[in-house]
Amino acid sequence: MKKILVLGATGTMGQRVVRLLQAEVPGAEVIGASRHPGRNAQVPMRRLDYADPSSYGETLRDIAVLIHAAGPYDHDPRPLVTRCLASGVHYIDLAEDYRFIARVNETAQAVAEPRSSVASGFSTVPALVYCLARCFERLAGLAALDVYLSLGSKNPVGEGLLYSLLRPLGQAGNTGEHWYRRSLNLTHLDGTPRRYAPYPFPAATPFMPPPMSLPLRFHVGFDRGILVTGLRYASHVVPHISDARLRSVSRLMLPTMKLAQLGGTFQGRLTLIARDKAHAPLAQIEITANENGLDIPAAPAVWTSHHLLNHPAETGILKLENVISNSGIITWLRAHNYGYAMRDFTTDSTPRAEES
Ligand SMILES: NC(=O)c1ccc[n+]([C@@H]2O[C@H](COP(=O)([O-])OP(=O)(O)OC[C@H]3O[C@@H](n4cnc5c(N)ncnc54)[C@H](OP(=O)(O)O)[C@@H]3O)[C@@H](O)[C@H]2O)c1
Repeated sequence: MKKILVLGATGTMGQRVVRLLQAEVPGAEVIGASRHPGRNAQVPMRRLDYADPSSYGETLRDIAVLIHAAGPYDHDPRPLVTRCLASGVHYIDLAEDYRFIARVNETAQAVAEPRSSVASGFSTVPALVYCLARCFERLAGLAALDVYLSLGSKNPVGEGLLYSLLRPLGQAGNTGEHWYRRSLNLTHLDGTPRRYAPYPFPAATPFMPPPMSLPLRFHVGFDRGILVTGLRYASHVVPHISDARLRSVSRLMLPTMKLAQLGGTFQGRLTLIARDKAHAPLAQIEITANENGLDIPAAPAVWTSHHLLNHPAETGILKLENVISNSGIITWLRAHNYGYAMRDFTTDSTPRAEES
């Protein structure tokens, strides 16, 4: 049996990845890894500290695919990526930080004869968004893309996700706009209103399909507008907090997240809107999750593991579109009870999502 190692298997996202792999890749043996392998009894565990290359050797021996789910992705990925490429271990991560993704890809490009492949950012953002946006490629008049990700506030949150969510708040983007300082409402295709705020999209990659060379605005929101309001206030404070202090704050805040979950829902949404020059919507894709929405960010790593077990000789940088087609993604989403809707407003007169 080929072995898949999930780094961060003691964490919230890592445990989801493990569960999905066990359900979807039955031909593989799933092994977990982290600095504290005793914390997960669901799978065989090994010790690996990404900051300590001396811990890689024994742990990576006999591994076919490594999924790095040990966020936040604010460390140097080069030692681990280099070791994986040199020892023939396929490397996948769920990073959403463009600097981290760029470093992984630069590392892969610098290896003269890689023995395996790398797939960085293989999560909802940016990989799934890039793939889905390709549906808009042929739209006449396409001038911009808006992406909205709404999280169900009842979903369990780990320290890594909380830190990664908070860190960009209040920082200035490349347009000079400070992330999360203003909010907007979007009425979805089914009439549901959701509040969002501008958020950085990890777009600094040379491997984007054509629509992404267009201006892209990314927004993150919640099923409850009050959380957006709270984060807007927080965006004035967070930039003044160091990385180390923010990590401690995220850890301390975790118990209070249970309070934030009260009255929330599990409902998540991912919406892509293609717009023309006048900002009018041309077409829209909406994915809705009534539960298990956080399986969606875990899914690209699982699809890619499956692909790599069947194509072990792959080397170099992988794109999600080489792993799964858009119709394959839609089939997977529907089979897992997620809603998928696509509207082409150039031919379809159904109500459009309205931003205000
Ligand atoms: N791109 C997307 O669409 C998307 C969506 C959802 C989540 N994510 C990302 O997924 C990441 C994980 O979030 P989470 O909530 O699962 O975090 P979490 O619950 O805090 O888990 C973090 C994991 O990392 C491990 N870890 C930390 N430092 C390590 C080190 N030096 N070496 C090895 N393992 C280490 C921890 O294990 P030990 O303490 O046992 O070592 C733990 O298993 C976040 O960065 C989040 O932003 C991305």
